[in-house]
Amino acid sequence: MASGFDDSSPVLDFLEFVERQPQQSVRQLLDKILLKSRMITGAEAGTVFIVRRKGQQRWLQPASMQNERIRPKLRDLVVPITAKTIAGYVAGAGEAVRLDDVYAIPPDRPFSFNPQNELKGYRTVSMLAFPLKNYQDQVIGVVQLINRRQPALPEPVPFEAEQTRLVTPIARAIATHIERADMLERIREQNVKLHQRNRELAEQRAQVVALQGETEEAFMLSINLLARAAEIHDEETGNHILRVNEYSYFLARELDMPASFCDEIRYSAQLHDVGKMSINTAILTKRGKLTPEERAEMDRHPHYGHQILAHSPRLTLAAEIAYCHHEKWDGSGYPRQLQGEAIPISARIVALADVYDALRSARPYKPAFSHERTVEIILQGDERIEPRRHFDPKLIQLFGEQHAGMAAIYQRLKD
Ligand SMILES: [Fe+2]
Ligand SMILES: [Fe+2]
Repeated sequence: MASGFDDSSPVLDFLEFVERQPQQSVRQLLDKILLKSRMITGAEAGTVFIVRRKGQQRWLQPASMQNERIRPKLRDLVVPITAKTIAGYVAGAGEAVRLDDVYAIPPDRPFSFNPQNELKGYRTVSMLAFPLKNYQDQVIGVVQLINRRQPALPEPVPFEAEQTRLVTPIARAIATHIERADMLERIREQNVKLHQRNRELAEQRAQVVALQGETEEAFMLSINLLARAAEIHDEETGNHILRVNEYSYFLARELDMPASFCDEIRYSAQLHDVGKMSINTAILTKRGKLTPEERAEMDRHPHYGHQILAHSPRLTLAAEIAYCHHEKWDGSGYPRQLQGEAIPISARIVALADVYDALRSARPYKPAFSHERTVEIILQGDERIEPRRHFDPKLIQLFGEQHAGMAAIYQRLKD
């Protein structure tokens, strides 16, 4: 083994050994490369330096260090790439250096050995230092082998000139693998950072979603309380407002309205009578017939509702519903006598939902009607309701086909 580079088998051996472990870290790879280099050449110690760069600056940094005699620690050593140091010269010139005794370097060489770099209790004699070049001929590192040993000889012996010549293909193969491993490692590090960043982002998102959830819940609660507050003096109580929400959602879905509209009408419908909050309690609670003035004031509740709700962008639909839920298809409704499709579809839906629920519920002046009787009234009319004049014909037709869905909601949410 110590005789080293006698044929090409060490090169193949080397490549095979590196290929076997494509996933290892650069550090592990360098440790093994150094160990293998030492075994092949008989070197007792060695260091692998890697070229580091930052902008225009380049320097060498020891990345692996081995010694049979003493246990070296990888020092925070920085070797400038200049001709003055051995490793720096090898990196800069891109050529190997072989020295029989580092303390007796021929005077024509530009570099010298710095005894301060000697590990404690150790003496460097012979050295073989060669560059690690990639296929673009760039030096990416330097391998420095120290003190070649031969069995039975007490002192280190010089490296052979032959060994210098033979390291070139190995060095190239090593360099390529180091570069690849270094690249993989950097990609892996980037991946770890990306994963970390993703985790952080996911956490932040979860917090935002939780906060949004809380805000949304608070919003829903507020408008439900508002709707309940408005009906406090009303004959419509209990789950009326919740059922109107659900009927409206059901009808909107059956009409194939956009999902956002369906979601919005589901919480907006309950606010249709919110304007009643602005009506004098005496009028709201009065038993018996209202005077024309009182009736006029009562009929202003759509207007008041619109005023209460119009300020919030999330309540635009609710404001529209409040304003228009007493309009009738033929223009005989109030407050603006809107006609046909001039009445917003949201309000047309809620008007039908509101009437269905009023018919199903008991009132001081009427009993609760069955679903069948209610369907009959909405489709055929009675003394108070004229469906063709009051409702959107398209909605009446839909109701005629899908009224079972309305009955199911009533059953589910009945008081
Ligand atoms: Fe109303
Ligand atoms: Fe109502």
